[in-house]
Amino acid sequence: MSPEIQPPSSFDDTSLDQAFGRVTAQAREEAAALTDPGSVEAFRLRWLGRKQGLLNDVSAWLKAAPPAAKKSFGERFKTLKDLVEGLLDQAAGSGHSDSALAAESIDITLPGSRRLTGAEHPITRTWNEIVSVFAALGYSVGVGPEVETDFYNFESMNFPPGHPARDTQDTLVIANQERRPLRDRLLLRTHTSPVQMRTMESQPPPIRIVIPGKVHRNEADDATHSSTFHQVEGLCVDTNITFSDLKGTLDHAMKALFGPSVKTRFFPSFFPFTEPSADVQISCIFCGGKGCRKCKHSGWIELLGCGMVDPAVFAFAAEKQPAYDSKRISGFAFGMGIERIAMMKYGVSDIGQFYSGDMRFLGQFA
Ligand code: DAH
Repeated sequence: MSPEIQPPSSFDDTSLDQAFGRVTAQAREEAAALTDPGSVEAFRLRWLGRKQGLLNDVSAWLKAAPPAAKKSFGERFKTLKDLVEGLLDQAAGSGHSDSALAAESIDITLPGSRRLTGAEHPITRTWNEIVSVFAALGYSVGVGPEVETDFYNFESMNFPPGHPARDTQDTLVIANQERRPLRDRLLLRTHTSPVQMRTMESQPPPIRIVIPGKVHRNEADDATHSSTFHQVEGLCVDTNITFSDLKGTLDHAMKALFGPSVKTRFFPSFFPFTEPSADVQISCIFCGGKGCRKCKHSGWIELLGCGMVDPAVFAFAAEKQPAYDSKRISGFAFGMGIERIAMMKYGVSDIGQFYSGDMRFLGQFA
């Protein structure tokens, strides 16, 4: 039995009061000195421990008590036990002691750990730059589905079934579509041009819209080709839109994207959905047009396709919106590759870098 705990000299109320009074005072005194979680736990074990706890010693006094004193002993014991438990709760819940706080404290004078700055991906950045050049000219911005029908991707863009121009856009098709009519078969759009038709079907002229988006082709990846890439489509339809409007618009856009000293020239080309069609070349931004390796010593770099909207395309649109009557309205369209423009602007020589997720590459744009 612990020497600190002195049993009552006898079991009359006065002696019991004295004995329990001493124990109570001792418990209070010890509880008041508790400082940290370790000492609180020691207090708990010392007083309430199942085998060695001091309260066990106190309850052992009962054995010597005569039957008549058991009830008053029991009451006093319960009061003591409640008190000890209360003291313990108080000590444990009274927040951290000074030493616990000290152990958890933070030295705010230490240097911080550096967080990486997030940044727009160069493709997203170029996408936004191109879109804002046209937004400033009053163009709205549209979107269309990446999984497209043969009708929108090809037929309505004046690539009739079996037309050889389809072979210029190697297509990834969705499986198990053979039982559908050709025009309803699904494919991954090979260009953003089908959104020209979706836009015209949904609203009458005038239209000024750019449509950025992801496109897919069945092509082997190399330094300048990726089977998934991005384009921005443009469409302008109104009364009296001429090739001069097309030239002026794209010349302005190229100067806005590459700097005011850039020149443009328009080369005859072919696209089924424009007539006439042109490839736009800009004066080489690397050598200023003198001729270098980048422009294959021509001084010019081919950047995008464009042309006047083919009447056959308007005829498809007129099926839903009769106002697309090529006798009354005209328009131009253009399409540019976002990767190609980003590669030029940022001097990227391998298109795969855009998709690699390599922080050494992406970190340069932060
Ligand atoms: N859709 C063409 C392609 O992906 C690009 C293009 C050329 C879009 C001429 C146009 C255009 O709107 O007028 O190769």
